[in-house]
Amino acid sequence: MAPDSVDTESIPAHVAVIMDGNGRWAEARELPRSEGHRVGLKATRRAVEFFANRGVRALTLFAFSSENWQRPPAEVEALLELFVTAIEEELPELREKGIRLRFIGAREEFPFELQARMREAETQTAANDTMTLVVALGYGGRWDILQAALRWVREKGGSGLDPAAFDDFLSTAGLPELDLLIRTGGEQRISNFLLWQAAYAELCFLDVLWPDVGEAELQDALDTYARRQRRFGRIGERRDAAHA
Ligand code: FPP
Repeated sequence: MAPDSVDTESIPAHVAVIMDGNGRWAEARELPRSEGHRVGLKATRRAVEFFANRGVRALTLFAFSSENWQRPPAEVEALLELFVTAIEEELPELREKGIRLRFIGAREEFPFELQARMREAETQTAANDTMTLVVALGYGGRWDILQAALRWVREKGGSGLDPAAFDDFLSTAGLPELDLLIRTGGEQRISNFLLWQAAYAELCFLDVLWPDVGEAELQDALDTYARRQRRFGRIGERRDAAHA
């Protein structure tokens, strides 16, 4: 389908991205992996702008998983520094574009400076409503489900548990239902990302390393999504009916 034939009905409200392939991109050029992350950040910037311009309401990016703490200390250190400078450098533009920033994950595990930057960025963009950019840091899908279950028990006891009400206890509470989950880098797995939230999401795997991702690849993902027939466990429906 040609890009301009995609109507707004088929634009996903909530897109999530597993930004995979930074390390391989760097290794192929005999560069340190941290260089792949630095160039990957540029692709991240392109993706934020692209999805905001297309009218996507929420974009959730997997920037650092619960498991990424096990990477070599030098790579972890470089990533943490990159997050601090990225928040600092991108904040003015995000504010200008009306983008709200939100962080999900076990943030207490991060250095105090980074935690302070996250809080500050969330506060400064709290009133923005063009798009919500959710950055998953220290995030794991199993962690999210467990923290939600623990809070549920603490606040509500053991009774009345139902999936819709449980949504409000997950770190993604208040965001639109996840419509499209994209993974770059050629692997085809969810890697403990939004496990609960991806229940009915369309999955799109791109055979491109994250630093090489640009508008064309992201448009490909939106076109693939627009062609899919969503069923939500029911029998076949036309996509406009499924979206009603
Ligand atoms: C996965 O590639 C990528 C990461 C673990 C880091 C992603 C972070 C960025 C792109 C920076 C974004 C920053 C913000 C603030 C949103 P990999 O290292 O697993 O690549 P590989 O599979 O080739 O080894």
